[in-house]
Amino acid sequence: MSDPQSFDTLSPQLFSKFSKLIYQLSGIYMKDSKIVLLSNRLKKRMKLLNLNTYDEYYNYLLTHKEEYEKFVNVISTNETYFFRSENQLEAFSNMILPLIINRKGYARIWSAGCSTGDEPYSLAIMADTLGMLNKVEILATDINSEVIEKARKGIYNNRRLKYVNQQILNKYFVKLDEENYKINPNLTSKINFKEHNLVKDEYPKNLDVIFCRNVMIYFNRDIQKEIVDKFYNSLTNGGFFFIGNAETLYIISDKFKYLKIGNSSVYYKE
Ligand SMILES: C[S@@+](CC[C@H](N)C(=O)[O-])C[C@H]1O[C@@H](n2cnc3c(N)ncnc32)[C@H](O)[C@@H]1O
Repeated sequence: MSDPQSFDTLSPQLFSKFSKLIYQLSGIYMKDSKIVLLSNRLKKRMKLLNLNTYDEYYNYLLTHKEEYEKFVNVISTNETYFFRSENQLEAFSNMILPLIINRKGYARIWSAGCSTGDEPYSLAIMADTLGMLNKVEILATDINSEVIEKARKGIYNNRRLKYVNQQILNKYFVKLDEENYKINPNLTSKINFKEHNLVKDEYPKNLDVIFCRNVMIYFNRDIQKEIVDKFYNSLTNGGFFFIGNAETLYIISDKFKYLKIGNSSVYYKE
């Protein structure tokens, strides 16, 4: 069906105003090449608010601070899926989690930038498989209030479950229809889902493992340095830090010790 509402074009000048605001609110750095991506994402809000021009939406934002939350929700990229980057999850479940539980009897884990929950649920499933779920505390946070709501609901399209084997699917999910599955509510109750802005909010303390994968790619070097420093302070001595497989702390921080566990890179706080 054709779209009855037509929009103007986002000018480079206005793009730079929007991107400044995005940076202030979330730390997300939008390169000039993201102009088409941003204009398409903003259209979703403009349609709902019945605004036809980007200029109108920008002014609306400035006069309606309550729109900031929706604005950030619509511009953030939330791509994720269950059991993403198996090499890292294997290092976590084969070695790191048992090591911490043996050492202190429990583990505090933070999935920072958890999107719709696929990552923390994958961690909870692995802990349960090891018989250690009752010894872990999982905090899962994201700036985007909608993805946190979805994570709490725990309903997933089968596209997101492509790396979930049949045994795990049978044990931890209930099939709702041809395409959708609901995660076992016992797992949901084990995870503390919360809105949290990595750039502005206080960081939790005494964590044993932090996952912040595929989040820092959206920040510039200065913000990356700032938040990695905060992650370092959040970890206990002997704690582990995972970033995305394609990410590195090279140039960002020299505080961590770099380890190779199995096929995975892991950063360690001595
Ligand atoms: C691409 S997803 C990564 C999800 C998951 N960690 C993974 O690797 O599959 C990036 C997430 O970072 C979140 N994010 C972006 N800026 C953030 C900020 N300032 N504070 C907290 N979360 C943020 C986004 O909302 C998004 O859900």
